Amino acid sequence: MIITKISKKDLEMTSNMIREVIPLLNLSPEGVKFMTQQSDPKALLEDKNDCFILKDENNIYATATLKKNKVERVFTNINYQKKGFGKLIMQEIFNYAIQKGFDEICTNSVKSAVDFYKSLGFESIKEVNIDCILMVKKIK
Ligand SMILES: CC(C)(COP(=O)(O)OP(=O)(O)OC[C@H]1O[C@@H](n2cnc3c(N)ncnc32)[C@H](O)[C@@H]1OP(=O)(O)O)[C@@H](O)C(=O)NCCC(=O)NCCS
Repeated sequence: MIITKISKKDLEMTSNMIREVIPLLNLSPEGVKFMTQQSDPKALLEDKNDCFILKDENNIYATATLKKNKVERVFTNINYQKKGFGKLIMQEIFNYAIQKGFDEICTNSVKSAVDFYKSLGFESIKEVNIDCILMVKKIK
């Protein structure tokens, strides 16, 4: 298993992996629409320089993107959650953010993932909308 930036050949499989998870998130219809757009292969391609995947030759296990200092599109494969893969890909994001010189990073977390981010040292700041909480982590 390796962590690498996404490449063209991974787009379809990563998009499908994300789209299997979205229905479990209990989001508003707007939230589902937004996440579905965000997981389109074209959207993944636009972010390809900042989008990481944990993969082997058969599977995409997890993905996370850092746009400026904002963590986006963090997903672990529906069949491989709670095995440490989300934490592993977030570690790559922390290293990448440090490399880029950021002092802190943020994310709009869906409510069901707040405890995941807390376990990684993020703090809740405020509710952004019906689906999301703004969370921040100092990395220096
Ligand atoms: C949130 C998500 C990425 C976590 O990935 P994961 O691979 O299952 O998480 P890990 O196994 O690496 O867990 C890391 C830590 O977070 C905790 N954790 C993970 N999911 C959790 C949850 N839903 N509630 C509480 N704690 C959770 C784990 O217990 C673990 O804690 P530990 O280090 O103290 O043992 C995954 O559940 C997912 O894809 N969810 C749907 C999409 C999503 O919510 N994305 C993020 C916000 S947009």
